[in-house]
Amino acid sequence: MTDHSQQAVVFITGGARRIGAEIAATFHEAGYRVIIHCHRSRHEADALAARLNDLRSQSCSVVSADLNDEQALMTLGEAALACFKRVDVLVNNASSFYATPLSSLTQTQWLDLMNSNARGGLFLAQQLAPALSVNDGSIVNLTDINVNRGMAGFSTYTMAKAALGGMTRSLARELAPNVRVNAVSPGAILWPEHDDNDATQDAEHARILAGIPLGRLGTPADIARTVLFLARDATYLTGQTIRVDGGRALG
Ligand SMILES: NC(=O)c1ccc[n+]([C@@H]2O[C@H](COP(=O)([O-])OP(=O)(O)OC[C@H]3O[C@@H](n4cnc5c(N)ncnc54)[C@H](OP(=O)(O)O)[C@@H]3O)[C@@H](O)[C@H]2O)c1
Repeated sequence: MTDHSQQAVVFITGGARRIGAEIAATFHEAGYRVIIHCHRSRHEADALAARLNDLRSQSCSVVSADLNDEQALMTLGEAALACFKRVDVLVNNASSFYATPLSSLTQTQWLDLMNSNARGGLFLAQQLAPALSVNDGSIVNLTDINVNRGMAGFSTYTMAKAALGGMTRSLARELAPNVRVNAVSPGAILWPEHDDNDATQDAEHARILAGIPLGRLGTPADIARTVLFLARDATYLTGQTIRVDGGRALG
């Protein structure tokens, strides 16, 4: 196994908050230098970077870009490489998530969901593949178990995550043997922030929990540990998607 964790660099999109921030902290604790990408959460990204740099100096940088902005996307890989002159792991975690009922779906919503969940990861892979291939690098994509289950009202989001799943398998072939490409498919981990705490939401949350064999939500740490496993330890895995869902997808 290649142990490059002492110098290795991980680049995490949407890494300022929630699951992305946990992935950043987990890789940092494992010895990686960390590049946090953010868009709106610059303040949170800077605070997390300051905390990680306090623990180990010059171990964390922040880059920002709106993945809807084509120019910003097409220079984001370069911006990431400029931080530490190498990138060993790309974690495509950024995502927008909201309902798009078919009757009211707009082109803007389609583009926003596709750009953040699928296009961003593809063009970052394009820009970073040469750097990733130098040290047996890898890409880990965050998909969603609802791609296979279907999710009423969320056709665009699930299509975007399905695209990311297809990219995982195709790039696993295309970038082999130098770069491994895998995915983590979370179940219910953190409720969306725009969820209101009203009775309808409570009932919906109870329904979801009742369908999880392990009987609880997952934690961001459950996801982060699996991303680290795929990037650092799983040296003979490529093209795989690991469901981290407490058994929910079993049916
Ligand atoms: N939470 C769950 O239970 C769950 C379940 C299934 C799958 N997942 C997947 O796991 C990953 C992490 O989940 P999460 O709930 O922590 O994600 P999240 O909070 O919904 O989103 C992560 C980040 O994505 C960034 N983002 C969104 N649109 C962007 C854009 N146009 N340009 C740049 N950045 C953009 C945002 O960064 P800024 O805040 O900096 O703008 C946001 O903080 C996601 O890929 C998600 O789809 C999560």
